[in-house]
Amino acid sequence: MSFHNIMDNIVLKMTSLYTLVLLLFLFLSYRPALSFSSRHRQYWGGGGRILSSGEHNGDLVTNLPGQPRVNFQHYAGYVTVNETNGRALFYWFYEAITQPKEKPLVLWLNGGPGCSSVGYGATQEIGPFLVDTDGQGLKFNNFSWNKEANMLFLESPVGVGFSYSNTSSDYDQLGDELTANDAYSFLHNWFQKFPSYRGRTFYIAGESYAGKYVPELAELIHDRNKDPSLYIDLKGILLGNPETSDAEDWMGLVDYAWSHAVISDETHQTIKTSCDFNSTDPWHNEDCSQAVDEVLKQYNEIDIYSLYTSVCFASTASSNDQSMQTSTKRSSKMMPRMLGGYDPCLDGYAKAFYNKPDVQKALHASDGHNLKKWSICNDKIFNDWADSKPSVIPIYKKLISAGLRIWVYSGDTDGRVPVLSTRYSLSSLALPITKSWRPWYHDNEWVV
Ligand SMILES: *[C@@H]1O[C@H](CO)[C@@H](O)[C@H](O)[C@H]1NC(C)=O
Ligand SMILES: *[C@@H]1O[C@H](CO)[C@@H](O)[C@H](O)[C@H]1NC(C)=O
Ligand SMILES: *[C@@H]1O[C@H](CO)[C@@H](O)[C@H](O)[C@H]1NC(C)=O
Ligand SMILES: *[C@@H]1O[C@H](CO)[C@@H](O)[C@H](O)[C@H]1NC(C)=O
Repeated sequence: MSFHNIMDNIVLKMTSLYTLVLLLFLFLSYRPALSFSSRHRQYWGGGGRILSSGEHNGDLVTNLPGQPRVNFQHYAGYVTVNETNGRALFYWFYEAITQPKEKPLVLWLNGGPGCSSVGYGATQEIGPFLVDTDGQGLKFNNFSWNKEANMLFLESPVGVGFSYSNTSSDYDQLGDELTANDAYSFLHNWFQKFPSYRGRTFYIAGESYAGKYVPELAELIHDRNKDPSLYIDLKGILLGNPETSDAEDWMGLVDYAWSHAVISDETHQTIKTSCDFNSTDPWHNEDCSQAVDEVLKQYNEIDIYSLYTSVCFASTASSNDQSMQTSTKRSSKMMPRMLGGYDPCLDGYAKAFYNKPDVQKALHASDGHNLKKWSICNDKIFNDWADSKPSVIPIYKKLISAGLRIWVYSGDTDGRVPVLSTRYSLSSLALPITKSWRPWYHDNEWVV
């Protein structure tokens, strides 16, 4: 069974948990999959090196408050990515639950830009420990991806979560390029802490705005791999409801809102006739601008990330994070994080948990006295984001022709980067179909 099949299985379970109704998944690849065992034998046949103590022991997490008992090890802490300016990125790494040496390494990135992979990916979505609804503890996630892979969650770029720079002007330079470069430095420096993962089969995964980060980092790795001393065994990328191509993503958002009865025929028609999403400033057209405002206004009342679940009414929860959802349009073409949904109040619980002194100390984020101020998304990063590729489709083409595998999956209750956006974006690749469309059942039924 290949890693992709296994991931496929886990995502199915995970999304059923979040009551997503339909998954569209596409394998974009010209190469047949190598079986996992043959890949891994390349590096570990006979003499796989066992993690020796000392290399990374300082980062081993031993007494995280509220953590359920588990039989795998996990590590958290900082990796310096630029010494001159004092930039350090925070990571949380969970070894696979069983046979970590046999399993690939997967780097996970959340989007925003400005949102935390620890707050979303690790503790609300696919990590082994989910924040519990009291903000005091954690509960075990039976659908954690570390059942099948060694999972590395990175808070990227600086300014996100616990990650920081000692040079404040760095925060004015944030964009796709700096993010990819720092993530690339992170990987090499992280491998120095964890040398036994240096030659491991490697994948990059992420969702939402990481739909840009993930291919961009993959391209950088691919380019630098020409130097054997820098080689990283990147095999593919996995993307969930990813931002891919701005024009198609906007068109998908609008058509999705119309087809799910969020907006009227008239509003939809105005957008169709007045918006040129390919233009560098679609909002210059006043009719377009007003009609798109109308779409976003409707989503004030509905959780755009999860159409059919409730919004969070708890006054203690993240009231200011809510503004993220609709503050997007004029200042930026960016789309914020993807997943709300299952329990939208979780953002607030995560914030309470990661600001506890004993939690920060256990994760090596601070000494427990001089606390770091952690928030799930950094609005300033989101609003100031200067450099964003309008489309990563050219990168897809390059990676595909280099033989890398790309898996795109979509939950169909996300209105922010909806399945329609993905269909519009990917159709421009005009790839041949190797396996025709088929419905996908869970336990012999549609998951509702
Ligand atoms: C550190 O970051 C600064 C600013 O982003 C950059 O100019 C410099 O080249 C970086 N240093 C190294 C060693 O990468
Ligand atoms: C940032 O500055 C603090 C305080 O001087 C120092 O302890 C820390 O090591 C610096 N971080 C980096 C990545 O250089
Ligand atoms: C967790 O998943 C396993 C299968 O992977 C299943 O047998 C078990 O019942 C699940 N436990 C819970 C509490 O859902
Ligand atoms: C954007 O332009 C490309 C190239 O001309 C075209 O194929 C695509 O359909 C356009 N997308 C939208 C949403 O208008």
